[in-house]
Amino acid sequence: MSTTSFTPRVFSGIQPSGGLTLGNYLGAIKRFVDMQGSDFETIYCMVDLHAITVWQDPEQLVHATRELCAGFIASGIDPEQSILFNQSQVAEHTQLAWIFNCVARMGWLNRMTQFKDKAGKNRENASVGLFAYPALMAADILIYHATHVPVGEDQKQHLELTRDIAIKFNNDFGVDFFPVTEPVIEGAATRVMSLRDGSKKMSKSDPSDMSRINLTDDADAIAQKIRKAKTDPEPLPETFEGLSERPEARNLVNIYAALADTTPQAVVAEFAGQQFGQFKPRLAEVAVEKLTPISTEMSRLMADPAEIDRILATGSGRAREIAAPILKKTYEIVGMVGA
Ligand code: TYM
Repeated sequence: MSTTSFTPRVFSGIQPSGGLTLGNYLGAIKRFVDMQGSDFETIYCMVDLHAITVWQDPEQLVHATRELCAGFIASGIDPEQSILFNQSQVAEHTQLAWIFNCVARMGWLNRMTQFKDKAGKNRENASVGLFAYPALMAADILIYHATHVPVGEDQKQHLELTRDIAIKFNNDFGVDFFPVTEPVIEGAATRVMSLRDGSKKMSKSDPSDMSRINLTDDADAIAQKIRKAKTDPEPLPETFEGLSERPEARNLVNIYAALADTTPQAVVAEFAGQQFGQFKPRLAEVAVEKLTPISTEMSRLMADPAEIDRILATGSGRAREIAAPILKKTYEIVGMVGA
């Protein structure tokens, strides 16, 4: 079944496992903001239950959840217009996840590259939660009958699994109950790469802070990281195709395009023939102009944690209103006796 018979609804989530990076901002949050106020109902979640699939210090988790909420709002998510909440407060996510644990197959989860990457060599020592993670992610989405999920490229495989779970559930029980969700992976920055190595994704877990721009970085730090970003000695080419074998250069062009709301092709056309010594200061200017108001607003919001907690509590209540009847119906379909 397609998504056409469902209310157009967007769901996406971010883990509060450390700070936000430019990758999270361009690949996810900025696009969440774009979808707000469109034809979609928008639901955005701080997925704290996903974060604890690897060890999180409890105090740090509290801080990271609030900081992520501040990051959403500072970037333009309006908690009145969108539903903004943290996952653990809506128990229906984990209740549906259990059902999906019984729908998903071991073989499907065994193929997940994120599990392989995160578990590393010592798989025996990874948490059961880390392995079952994608079934919870499917539940996050399908507990709202979400039709569209904006994410970065790295989440594509998990969204394919979400579709497989929806299809298998519908087939197993002979219903048309869960939508087959559309991944929305669009724009110039669906995969922002490390500033030190163009073959690696920009990530909050990279040991080198110089590999990423954090949303909490000040103007000097942003400019310094861009100045020191790895590139090559060639000037910018005449066409975007000319960057196909130059991952670091291509990454900086993509970042510029995403920040300036233009296309990589237009950026290459503007800077064709110039050296990175000329391009990087311009990129730093755009980055500072777009990102520093966000970090300033984040610090302002973080000064009032009670207000952030209130926003999350209100969002959780609104989320539960959508999730509860969908869980109830799921239980009926599966054959659970209840009132
Ligand atoms: P997470 O927390 O790792 O990342 C949050 C979002 O940021 C995107 N992203 C990037 N995009 C471009 N370039 C990068 N370098 C980059 N790094 C991160 C991710 O693609 C993601 O969109 N499993 C998810 C969280 C999740 C979720 C969900 C997402 C849980 N349930 C339901 C959507 C729907 C994750 O670990 O994202």
